Amino acid sequence: MSAVDVHLAVAAERTLADDVLDGLTRPFKELPPKHFYDARGSQLFELICAQPEYYPTRTETAILRERAAELMDGVDELVELGSGATAKARLLLEGGEATRYVPVDVSETVVRAAADELAGLGVEVHGVVGDIERHLDRLPPPAGRRAVAFLGGTIGNFLPGSRRRFLRSIAGLLAPGDRLLLGADLVKDPALIEAAYDDAAGVTAEFNRNVLAVVNRELDADFDLDAFEHVAFFDRVHEWTEMRLRALTPQHVTIGALGLEVDFAHREELRTEISAKFTRERIAADLAAAGLRLDALVTDPRQWFAISVASAA
Ligand code: SAH
Ligand code: TRP
Repeated sequence: MSAVDVHLAVAAERTLADDVLDGLTRPFKELPPKHFYDARGSQLFELICAQPEYYPTRTETAILRERAAELMDGVDELVELGSGATAKARLLLEGGEATRYVPVDVSETVVRAAADELAGLGVEVHGVVGDIERHLDRLPPPAGRRAVAFLGGTIGNFLPGSRRRFLRSIAGLLAPGDRLLLGADLVKDPALIEAAYDDAAGVTAEFNRNVLAVVNRELDADFDLDAFEHVAFFDRVHEWTEMRLRALTPQHVTIGALGLEVDFAHREELRTEISAKFTRERIAADLAAAGLRLDALVTDPRQWFAISVASAA
């Protein structure tokens, strides 16, 4: 049994327009990462996860494979935010006794694929296509004890202030007895981190440039994708990776739908994402600031990645 609720359509185009207008008219240009994930972007992200340099997916998956039973103990319903591919949900669902799975993602293709791919597991799938920063109030009412999973280190893609605000909105989904399963990438050798965000095959570079193709298509713009190069570096002060697109030559871009003209100087950069790396202390502090208590932190032998189990304080 499966159903998919869609809460996007026109509202989504509106936020892209607002974000482009806000982000590209500032002295330091920036776009929020949720616009990467059109059908092509979701496909490229899955290719990133399979690259030898991209350790987060493999490491987190290994933790889930080992510890699913414990993470899902007593859980009736798994809600997954920014769900993406189904491999991780499958491990959690097979390891426990949940009877309902609620994948929530901006990408309609991934939510529909989840409903199809997990149909055979004997679990009810109730997919929600929506923006996790705006539509958490539209989830179906809970079906028993809930685990809310937010995996892949996606929490690191928020700036610190909005990260805590977002965790607070997750806390609002948790009744007594419910839990949050939060996947976070840990601080480690910067060389390993930088390689993960700049794979030799160039998949991450293509993924990064795809956001320009999204703006071209959705907002009638004329970005020349070949005129921008992918940049990824670990910022040691903030302990986060930054992804940027750097103009190789001066660029003049027209964004038809907004009646907007944007100039890029030679080597000017557009920030497309940050991916924060965490310590146990930072995770506990962020959770506490959001009204959550860290009950357990499950990690791999190399301590590269952690899944935190938290509940409403
Ligand atoms: N959870 C998966 C995918 C991580 S990639 C994993 O662990 O591998 C991030 C996912 O979050 C993508 O599927 C993307 O479409 C989704 N996403 C990004 N921003 C979002 C937002 N604001 N609302 C809902 N989904 C979002
Ligand atoms: N949440 C993922 C991460 O921070 C998303 C991601 C991986 C990503 N590689 C990327 C986003 C490259 C933009 C560009 O690890």
